[in-house]
Amino acid sequence: MAADDRIEGGPRHVACIMDGNGRWATKRGRPRLFGHHAGARRVKEIVRACPDLGVRYLTIFAFSTENWKRTQSEVSGLMKLFRRYIQREARDLLAEGVRVRFIGDRVRLDAKLVRLMDELELLTSGNDRVHLTIALNYGGRDELGRATKRMAQEVAEGKLSPRDVDETTLARFLDTHVLPDPDLVIRTSGEARISNFLLWQSAYAEYEFVDTLWPDFCPEEFARVLRLYGARDRRFGAVLA
Ligand code: IPE
Ligand code: IPE
Ligand code: MG
Repeated sequence: MAADDRIEGGPRHVACIMDGNGRWATKRGRPRLFGHHAGARRVKEIVRACPDLGVRYLTIFAFSTENWKRTQSEVSGLMKLFRRYIQREARDLLAEGVRVRFIGDRVRLDAKLVRLMDELELLTSGNDRVHLTIALNYGGRDELGRATKRMAQEVAEGKLSPRDVDETTLARFLDTHVLPDPDLVIRTSGEARISNFLLWQSAYAEYEFVDTLWPDFCPEEFARVLRLYGARDRRFGAVLA
């Protein structure tokens, strides 16, 4: 993809609900984890396409707080895949200027995975070309619950006055506090729901739902979806002149 692929009025922050890995594998008569591995390979291509498309922030939904309801073998296979992904990709992510962050509740994740996540965040903390945020054991309601608990704690300790609690204060306690809100949320696989992703942050995001299953979602289709966004009017409640 070349520099002139940059899209006029394109989104700065894109969030992706990477859905359809399981169906992609089932269609091929393969186990669901085969689809998750194919999906992980797609991530790399999409991240690489970002700079030329003018996308500075990419946030991807890798595992939801509800995904623990899946079979033990799928969950443990996914956790192993996350560990391997970090170990294998760290060097390229660093070299390609990608700053990686994780959002979600780390408490339920195993210690080895959490250590790898912390290390990758630290390793890439000097990068600024693309900001990749991976939502892992993330749920929008869970995030709001954890943020509210920490805020209430500060009130109880006298560090924060209830008078000063407003939407800006609450946003400071969210996992995403250093990130801008997403401009565009893309969900693959034909499902038209948000499944508890970035509930607060997406208040004024545009949405694109595409039928393609995530392992088939290529940079060309990503660019096509970004162009659809570029053609939209965002009004934020106002009336355009
Ligand atoms: C998305 O693909 C990846 C995760 C939720 C981890 P799915 O695993 O949900 O795939 P489908 O929706 O069953 O096809
Ligand atoms: C959302 O997909 C979570 C991720 C992509 C990680 P799901 O497949 O879990 O969502 P539902 O169950 O179809 O709503
Ligand atoms: Mg799914």
